[in-house]
Amino acid sequence: MSDWDFHTIIEPFRIKAVEAIPNLTRAQRERALHAAGYNLFKLLADTVTIDLLTDSGTGAMSAAQWSALMIGDESYAGSRSFVRFEAAVHRLTGFPYIFPVHQGRAAERILARTVLPPGSVVVNNTHFDTTRANVEQAGAHAVDLPVAAAADPTDTSPFKGDMSLPALDRALDSGVTLAMLTLTNNAAGGQPVSMANIEAVSARCRAAGVPFFLDAARFAENAWFIHTREPGFADVPLPTIARRMFDLADGCTISAKKDGIAHIGGVLATRIPEWADAFRNELILGEGFPTYGGLAGRDLECVAVGLEEALDPDYLRYRARSVAYFAERLESVGVPVVKPPGGHAVYVDAGRLFPHIPPEQLPGQAFAVAMYLEGGVRGVEIGSLMFPAARLQLVRLAMPRRVYTQAHIDYVVEVAARVVARARSVPGYRIVTEPPFLRHFSATLEPLPTGG
Ligand SMILES: Cc1ncc(COP(=O)(O)O)c(C=O)c1O
Repeated sequence: MSDWDFHTIIEPFRIKAVEAIPNLTRAQRERALHAAGYNLFKLLADTVTIDLLTDSGTGAMSAAQWSALMIGDESYAGSRSFVRFEAAVHRLTGFPYIFPVHQGRAAERILARTVLPPGSVVVNNTHFDTTRANVEQAGAHAVDLPVAAAADPTDTSPFKGDMSLPALDRALDSGVTLAMLTLTNNAAGGQPVSMANIEAVSARCRAAGVPFFLDAARFAENAWFIHTREPGFADVPLPTIARRMFDLADGCTISAKKDGIAHIGGVLATRIPEWADAFRNELILGEGFPTYGGLAGRDLECVAVGLEEALDPDYLRYRARSVAYFAERLESVGVPVVKPPGGHAVYVDAGRLFPHIPPEQLPGQAFAVAMYLEGGVRGVEIGSLMFPAARLQLVRLAMPRRVYTQAHIDYVVEVAARVVARARSVPGYRIVTEPPFLRHFSATLEPLPTGG
């Protein structure tokens, strides 16, 4: 472990290639927003100054990844790049059967189609929306079993991503086909899962004969939180912590667009031989031959390097610190945030910031639009627009990996301070047109008259 003892946590890299970011006038942003129907998903990226829409596939690759890309072996079968990819995933997880896929949801689709009969039950701390959709598409039931603290944005418990063990016991008694833990728990604020909870879920599943998989998209950030927050892990190297997490499971799905720090890619892996046979057949049907699985050889190379870089302690210290710094600074200018900050994003509690906007007038969307209008910052509403029954009106400001510096964060905080200063005059929104499902991606909206 590194012995860094300075107050300042620096970006542990220097910048070798740069990409200019757009800087529009307010009038230009107003026009762009109007043309997008006040839906930030419909903005062209060229009209966004700081893009915090997602941390998925948006990271900056390292020099080592770019050079690995050049040695990609594009052979259809048995490519050298697959051998390197398989070895990297094996070193990380220990699983014997490893399949590349084009992204996380492809792994979820293969898993759901092959092992979930109609009417079966999958339990998870909280299903990510693509996982839930794939489980339900197979005719199975996706059941979320979060701990109570996950629902309280002011609760500062260190592992709010844990699964409720009493709820798991009840579910196992009435029949479960597959148990999953999502590390970190994206749908519940990017909160980590403790090793104690992974161990407890694993033991219960083994006793009940129920296979247990990890959705390990953010395995490295979860390992960092175990290292820094859970007693007994301060001196355990991060790869050992990660390996212990995977050792407790029978398999995993991974979107390599997060902690793989790749622009595309994913993994499905298991230690169950019969499931591996079924995965292989389904993979060939939908993704490609098992040694490329819907990816180019060069993509396999980038993932292989990225999976190792993600467990670098200097990188993870900087990553966790920048998200925490972002949350602290937002709070200091009067923006309520979900606590404690997660590993990949800050979640703003817009319902508390805008008490004058009722949930049906979409306070989360109001904050997201105000941040864009004020300074070209793009986040994503996670409230009543995305989930009509949402209990909290949140906006997620996700941090792409290795992309933005502390000055960028300070700028976003300044933009937020301006929004706070005119909070009372920020309008609510109404939906003008909406599609039959996943409406947040393509709905059009309009501002309501203020004071009305
Ligand atoms: C926890 C989690 N699981 C699965 C996925 C799906 O991965 P992908 O977007 O690569 O299909 C995501 C993506 O955001 C995620 O956050």
